[in-house]
Amino acid sequence: MTIKIGNIELKDNVFLAPMSGVSDAPFRKLVNNYGAGLVVSEMIASRAMILETRQSLAKLRKADNQEISVVQLAGCEPDVMAEAAKMNEDLGADIIDINFGCPVKKVINGDAGSALMRQVPLATKILEATVKAVNIPVTLKMRMGWDNSSLNAPEMARIAEDVGIQMLTVHGRTRCQMYKGNADWKFIKNVKEAVKLPVIANGDIVDFASAERAMAESGADGIMIGRGTYGKPWFVKQVIEHLKGNDFAAPSLAQQKEIILRHYEEMLELYGTTTGIRMARKHIGWYTAGLHSSSAFRNEFNRISDPQMAKTAISDFYELILNSGEQTILHQAA
Ligand SMILES: Cc1cc2nc3c(=O)[nH]c(=O)nc-3n(C[C@H](O)[C@H](O)[C@H](O)COP(=O)(O)O)c2cc1C
Repeated sequence: MTIKIGNIELKDNVFLAPMSGVSDAPFRKLVNNYGAGLVVSEMIASRAMILETRQSLAKLRKADNQEISVVQLAGCEPDVMAEAAKMNEDLGADIIDINFGCPVKKVINGDAGSALMRQVPLATKILEATVKAVNIPVTLKMRMGWDNSSLNAPEMARIAEDVGIQMLTVHGRTRCQMYKGNADWKFIKNVKEAVKLPVIANGDIVDFASAERAMAESGADGIMIGRGTYGKPWFVKQVIEHLKGNDFAAPSLAQQKEIILRHYEEMLELYGTTTGIRMARKHIGWYTAGLHSSSAFRNEFNRISDPQMAKTAISDFYELILNSGEQTILHQAA
């Protein structure tokens, strides 16, 4: 099933989710190396964007193998969202994604993110202003609603379609659920049936079975994967191939060692040594989870503040496993 967003035709229908602190340029590049329908930037606050803060500019950096640049914006002021969208278009974004899903207090206290699910008139103005401001497609990512008594994603979807939004992604949870409970893929079908737009189902897709169920239960055109890619940047591609009836093998442990070392270097290049070392620790934790003696390794590793020592530690850890012949990779069982 081919998804078209405006004039942009996607090769595949499995996407990498926007994740603050995770889906930065190095990670998007890695996921893209294997293959993904789309990889979405971390959310950028629209006000920070128009002030061109260093952090917001770093977030929108396109991975160097990224053909389609999707920049996600959050905000609660229609004119500021419009201006930020225009700036991103001028800077080369191909698609603007609007965030109506973020449940974090810092974001929703400003009535942005998922708070907009219960502020329909303001949400409508934001969607309208953003669409009007740019010539590139604008998409929307939302939750099912604020809480169980206000599951208004289908209504929001119709509004979005009317004002010219070109694709919808639905995380199958309410704002009040935060990340608790299970994503409700069946509910997403109500959104799919409410509009003609492409709809993408999101939430709790962690293996092939959940990918298949999310597709079947939602009737969506595609799926978006977030946490399921932790430590497995190849997972999106594996799901793409699985849904086509093919197999795509995870890289060998020896290949993973090289991937991780390169990822580590790219994070240090993007963030600088001090911040890079800190930011990379979670990825190293995810990559090594389930490997022999990995918790002892992480305890040691997280104390290292010298990049060369850190790379040697990663290398030694993998070499030890490779040389011992113990190559069971527990966390990769799809
Ligand atoms: C660490 C983290 C950061 C996130 N940041 C964003 C974000 O910037 N924008 C957004 O729309 N959603 C964000 N999300 C939500 C994800 O895009 C996704 O909707 C959610 O994690 C459910 O999908 P999953 O179960 O596949 O992870 C974030 C989630 C996580 C775990």
